[in-house]
This record gives sequence, structure tokens and C-alpha cells, in this order.
Amino acid sequence: MTTDMSATATRDDEGARKANVYSAEVSELYDLVYKGRGKNYAHESAVVTELVRARRPGAASLLDVACGTGEHLRTFRLMFDEVEGVELSPTMRAGASVKVPGVAVHDGDIRLFDTGRTYDAVCSLFGTVGYMTDTAELEAAVGRMAAHLPTGGVLIVEPWYFPDRFIDGHIAGDLVRGADRTVTRVMRVARTTGSTVRQESHWSVADATGVRHFDQVQIFTLFEPDDYTAAFRRAGCDVEYIESGDIGDGRGLFVGVRQ
Ligand SMILES: C[S@@+](CC[C@H](N)C(=O)[O-])C[C@H]1O[C@@H](n2cnc3c(N)ncnc32)[C@H](O)[C@@H]1O
Repeated sequence: MTTDMSATATRDDEGARKANVYSAEVSELYDLVYKGRGKNYAHESAVVTELVRARRPGAASLLDVACGTGEHLRTFRLMFDEVEGVELSPTMRAGASVKVPGVAVHDGDIRLFDTGRTYDAVCSLFGTVGYMTDTAELEAAVGRMAAHLPTGGVLIVEPWYFPDRFIDGHIAGDLVRGADRTVTRVMRVARTTGSTVRQESHWSVADATGVRHFDQVQIFTLFEPDDYTAAFRRAGCDVEYIESGDIGDGRGLFVGVRQ
């Protein structure tokens, strides 16, 4: 099957933004692809925990926002007495519920959620905030996360790419062999207008039943470092940027403490 990607390129951005909430097809393959790429969730969770404890030594509770399939939660639950997640995709949430049974994974939008309690630490990892459409949405997301912290609580956000580090027109691909299937994913990321970026991916999956294909379109915003720090300050947090190359895709972390 061939796919005319120009067809997706004409899609309305708002429709594509809804695809930022992961489909059943993507959810099913997510862990296989990212583990295949060598993403080290246990190490990343340990880095986040260390940053939290350096600022709040007795931290006992953590909320992971847009937690996906719960890979970070799997490690966080070993490091904190209480962990919970928030995730908008029903199929990603279902995966997390299987992986971390007994851990509450709330149905919620990063811009709107309210779990009704506070946590010593809140994090959102792997660039999910890059899905926010503008600085107002970024401030809403950071504001909701900070609202779940007590004074002295720690907020850790992994940004998406900054404009000066983004490679316009970048192409990439993965080939992953699982026990019962082989998956390929090719993608291209390119600016559309201003700071908006469209990431188009084409997936192929071969298993015992046959070969299938599907497309995924994600829309990101290239926020400046100052946009992130302004959102943290507006949410009542002191903030620093830590250029940690060994988490995620090397985009660093914003670390805030609620005042
Ligand atoms: C790049 S994945 C990161 C998942 C996980 N944190 C990880 O590190 O593997 C982005 C996740 O954000 C979720 N998502 C997208 N938009 C969201 C929103 N507005 N609110 C909450 N979750 C959202 C997607 O469904 C997906 O699970």
C-alpha cells in the first residue's frame, strides 16, 4: 500500500492536534518502539527522583502528567510511597493500568485536570507540553501542574525542542523487531507556519496475520526557553533549566519549586 502524505499535509491543524492524543494503534506499539530505540525509562525516572529529592528531601508522592503507558510510573512507584498518573488517551491509560496495577491513572487533559489533591512532586516528561498550541495553553498546562503542588513542591517538565535546536525538514526512522511482530516507522518534521511544526509518521506492522499500515500526524509548537520560564513564574514557581543530556532526547529539563 502506498500513502499519499500530501493528503495529510492538507489536513486542518486542529484535527491533527486531536491526534496528539494517542490512538489505539499507536498505544499498542508505543513501548516496543521506544524500548527498541533504547529509551531508558528506569534511568530517566531515577534522574527525576534525584532532582526532586535534592529540593524536597522527604518527597513521598509524585504525579506523572501525560504518563503514557506508565513506563516512568513503573520505576517511580519503587521510589515514592504514592504515585499517580494523568493521561488523556484511553488506550495509553489502559496500558498503564495493566502495567502499574493499583496506581490511579486519571483521565485528564494536561491543560484542565484536577485530581483533587496535592503531591510533593509533579512531572511531565518526553516533551508532551510541546503539544500546547500557544503560550496561553503552555501557561494553562504548567498552571494546572503547579496547582497540584504544596509550597516547596517540585515541578519537572521536559520541554519539546527550542526553535534554535530544531532541524526543519528532519527525517528519521525506526525498525524494531519484537517477539511476534516487526515494526517500521518513518517520519518527517517540518515547520508549517511560525512556530508550528507538523510531524508526519508512517507505520508498518508485520505479524502472523499480515502487514498493515497507518499514518500518524502530530502538531507541536517550538516554544522559546523564556516561554517555559515565564509559565513557571506565572504559576508561582522558581525555575531553573537543567541541560541534562541523558534524559529523553537531550532537550533538558525545567525544574521548578512552588513558592
Ligand atoms: C510523547 S508521549 C509521552 C508519554 C510518557 N510520558 C512517556 O514518557 O513515554 C505523549 C503522551 O501525551 C498524551 N497526551 C497528548 N495530549 C494530551 C493532553 N492534552 N493531556 C494529557 N495527555 C495528553 C498522549 O496520549 C501520549 O500518551
